[in-house]
Amino acid sequence: TTHKVGYFIGSLAKESINRKLAQALVRLAPPELDMEEIPFRDLPLYSYDYDADYPPAARALKHAIASVDAVLFVTPEYNRSIPGGLKNAIDWASRPWGQNSFARKPSAVIGASIGAIGTAVAQQSLRSVLSFCNSPQMNAPEAYIHFTPDLITDSGEVTVASTEEFLRNYMAEFKIFIARVLQVLPRDA
Ligand code: FNR
Repeated sequence: TTHKVGYFIGSLAKESINRKLAQALVRLAPPELDMEEIPFRDLPLYSYDYDADYPPAARALKHAIASVDAVLFVTPEYNRSIPGGLKNAIDWASRPWGQNSFARKPSAVIGASIGAIGTAVAQQSLRSVLSFCNSPQMNAPEAYIHFTPDLITDSGEVTVASTEEFLRNYMAEFKIFIARVLQVLPRDA
């Protein structure tokens, strides 16, 4: 069976290294995973004043999450946390109260940094948010990608064989995790 995965790229930068990482993950994902980006750059800043009538960009976001079996977060670390734009998107998707898009939706977290810690602190922060949003998270493997120049080309080719193999295995494990969660928590349950 095929599973649909929606991925969030935490960075809005044109030359984002996390966009390159996401492109590599799309290439290396097993064929049973149908990968599509969930964009969020057009969302206004969230406030609960919108809860009675979500704007089109926010409706589109919630629709996109509803239409996938799982979500993947590919995010940089900004100031030891996740970028504000990504947190804003998560806040939109988690509301209105009682219509949290992440509830029972399997997720995984990965990120690339130019620093040696490889987004570990941001990932811990994101995991707390996803826990509160009741998203079953893949615990292992963890993936902290220390991005060196040319590690991944613009088109998503990984130039270091061991990293390529690591990322391929990460996506294979995510496929297994999604299948297991969906067995217990079917999407339409
Ligand atoms: C950073 N960077 C960074 N790196 C890190 O490892 N830990 C951190 O806390 C931060 N903080 C941080 C804050 C802000 C505002 C910026 C712009 C950058 C550096 C970061 O790893 C680097 O810019 C990456 O290129 C970010 O990934 P994207 O946006 O290129 O995908």
